[in-house]
Parts: sequence; structure tokens; C-alpha cells
Amino acid sequence: MSKQVIVALDYSLQEAELFLRSFPKSFIKVGYQLFYEAGPAWVAQKKEEGYQVFLDLKLHDIPNTVFEGVKAVSKLGVDLLTIHASGGSHMISRAREAVEQTATADHRTKILAVTQLTSTDQSMLTNELQIRAQVTESAIHLAQLAQRSGADGVICSGLEVQAIKQATSSHFLAVTPGIRPKEAGVDDQKRVVTPVEAIERGADYLVIGRPITKAENPVQAYETILQSIKEATT
Ligand code: C5P
Repeated sequence: MSKQVIVALDYSLQEAELFLRSFPKSFIKVGYQLFYEAGPAWVAQKKEEGYQVFLDLKLHDIPNTVFEGVKAVSKLGVDLLTIHASGGSHMISRAREAVEQTATADHRTKILAVTQLTSTDQSMLTNELQIRAQVTESAIHLAQLAQRSGADGVICSGLEVQAIKQATSSHFLAVTPGIRPKEAGVDDQKRVVTPVEAIERGADYLVIGRPITKAENPVQAYETILQSIKEATT
């Protein structure tokens, strides 16, 4: 399994275009901010230009609405797409059905499930959502539900990768944000791991934003991360 770095483009359209102009072709994460401004045609164009695209839309609705939404965006050729595992088994399986229907001979969008958001703490889970489980326990439960229902993997913290892989399987993808190289600050992330730690714990893809996008020299920061992963895995 190739280990890859996904660059989070938490940008406006203008900022994203400026950034990409002097950055190598890579795997990019497009979230709400960029997608709602740039639109589906921009995403399709990036795919045509040779980028790999992780579309982070965290879809969550009734199964049929998610099915139609996933069908529409997977036609753009995106590589990874997020949905919320808490939408339940039927919603997840309909999302999988949608990407199967739009798949071509050599490409299928992979569905990643969000388990518990890192912004959900124990007090919110217990008191607001009235879920009687520990946060990690609930994340593992939702990861298993996602796997059984046809998702290809989950988004999880580098600190949870091992537990998730153990509870699912080594082929179930773990995509991890909250990555900070030793020399970078933590910004607003709280529970961080380095790129090499995340890979050693079993992460398949690392989502990295500010340590690259806000670096003085983004290309150099990106290449240093890739090199550290290469050294750790060869
Ligand atoms: O700049 P930074 O490396 O912190 O960016 C991480 C990216 O991963 C952001 O796009 C953020 O929204 C996303 N993310 C996260 N934690 C999650 C899920 C997504 O940081 N639990």
C-alpha cells in the first residue's frame, strides 16, 4: 500500500489557484470552503490536469439523498469522498452503491466515513448527543459499522489508527489529519502525531494542511515530509 500525503487546500478559489501554480501535481483535499466557491467543474478540471482529489463533503442525509449526491460528485472522478458514519448502515451502503454505479473500468471513488469528529469531546457525546460510550469506543463502533456497510475506510486521528485497524482490517483505509512534523507548530490541533509516527501506526494517507500551505517554502516543506516518509519506509 502506497503511503501518501494529501495537501489540504483550506483556501478560497483565488488562494488555491495561486498556491497550485507553484506547487507540484499532488493529492489535494478540497473541503467546503473551496468546493462551494470553485464548484464541481473546477474539481473535474483538476482531475483532468492530473491531480488526485479528496473531496471532503462529509455527506449526511437520508439514504436516497446521499445516494444521489454521491452519484453526482463521484462522476467528477474524485478519488476519495467523505460521508458521516452516523448516517447509519443503509445510508453508507447506498453511498457505496452510488460509487459502484459511476465506476469505470479503471476508477472508482472510495468512500471514507467520518466516525466522531475531533471536535466532539466526551461531555458533548454524553450530554448533548446522549450517547453512552467513550469517544474512542464510539469511533471504533462507527468504523466497524462503516466497514460492514461498504465504506472503504475512515478518517481518524493518528493516535487511533492502530485501534481502528485492529477492530476492522489492515485493508480498511485509515486517513489521518492532525499531522505535525517535529519542526512545525501545532496551530489549533490538539492531539498531533508526526508524519512518520502516523505511517508507523498504519495510516494509509496523511492529510496535511498548514505545515505545508503556511510554510515559508511550501514545496520544500512538502518534499521534506515525503523524504522523511521514504526514509522510514525503505
Ligand atoms: O492545517 P491542518 O494540517 O491542521 O489541516 C488538517 C485538515 O484536516 C483540515 O482540512 C481539517 O479540516 C481536516 N480535519 C482535521 N481533523 C479532523 C477531520 C478533518 O483536521 N478530524
